[in-house]
Amino acid sequence: MEDKLKEVAQWIAASKRVIVFSGAGLSTESGIPDFRSPGGVWDRYNPEDFYFQNFLASEASREKYWQMATEMYEPIKKAHPNQAHLAIAELEKLGKLDCVITQNIDGLHFKAGNSEERVIQLHGTAIFVSCLSCKKRYDRNEIQERIKEGQKAPRCGDCGGLLKPATISFGQSMPEKETEEAYHRSSLCDLFIVVGSSLVVQPAASMPLVAKRNGAKLVIINRDPTPFDDMADLVVHGEAGSTMKSILDHVKREARVKG
Ligand code: APR
Repeated sequence: MEDKLKEVAQWIAASKRVIVFSGAGLSTESGIPDFRSPGGVWDRYNPEDFYFQNFLASEASREKYWQMATEMYEPIKKAHPNQAHLAIAELEKLGKLDCVITQNIDGLHFKAGNSEERVIQLHGTAIFVSCLSCKKRYDRNEIQERIKEGQKAPRCGDCGGLLKPATISFGQSMPEKETEEAYHRSSLCDLFIVVGSSLVVQPAASMPLVAKRNGAKLVIINRDPTPFDDMADLVVHGEAGSTMKSILDHVKREARVKG
């Protein structure tokens, strides 16, 4: 295993454009459950109830949505970046990171120290709430307070529009600028590292393909097998935290040796 991680570190050292692509598996060691592992979000909730069309359909389904979203927000609110987040932030400090493309809505890449301009949030963020009509943005905790006070499906104070966490739900349009930029950077990178994703949700899961088809090396670090393992140049079925920490240690050692 150590030889594999050393090899990834050598690829990072030799690369000009490294992309890290992260999924919910990156944040389980920070206490946030992922979606498809046993005991994950889709084990406890029916994904159908999260469809955007349902949210728009009725007050009852909005109340249900907010009830589930409030429960899911609890671990996100308390979470701290883990070793994997910190290793990725350090790759940026070492000047080795082109960008992070993330499906995660927890904001932990920023808490770890990655800069705004180097993190592409494909599925939005749970840290803010926005009005679906006038697009006004609210701090999440402020809206959670209103829910505690009894508002089951809060409305916008300015226009009366529907408020929803600024995440991208199933059936909702992807953020155009972020999606285009993620595709573009994936096509230009020379090393694409997937960390903690089952790679089953589109269009996010097509990014590794875009990178590979444009000549990049593909590394997959995930506890369970993914549909793309066969086309990867290197696969690690292990824990994100310890794996990314080891890779970073090798990168730093390499840099010291080269002096
Ligand atoms: N280290 C490494 N891998 C892990 C760890 C860990 N500590 N914990 C979980 N994993 C792996 C699991 O084996 C699983 O394959 O992370 C993967 C997480 O997969 P999903 O739960 O499917 O999460 P993700 O790929 O991010 O889902 C994509 O689906 O539900 C939607 O919008 C949601 O952004 C999400 C999207």
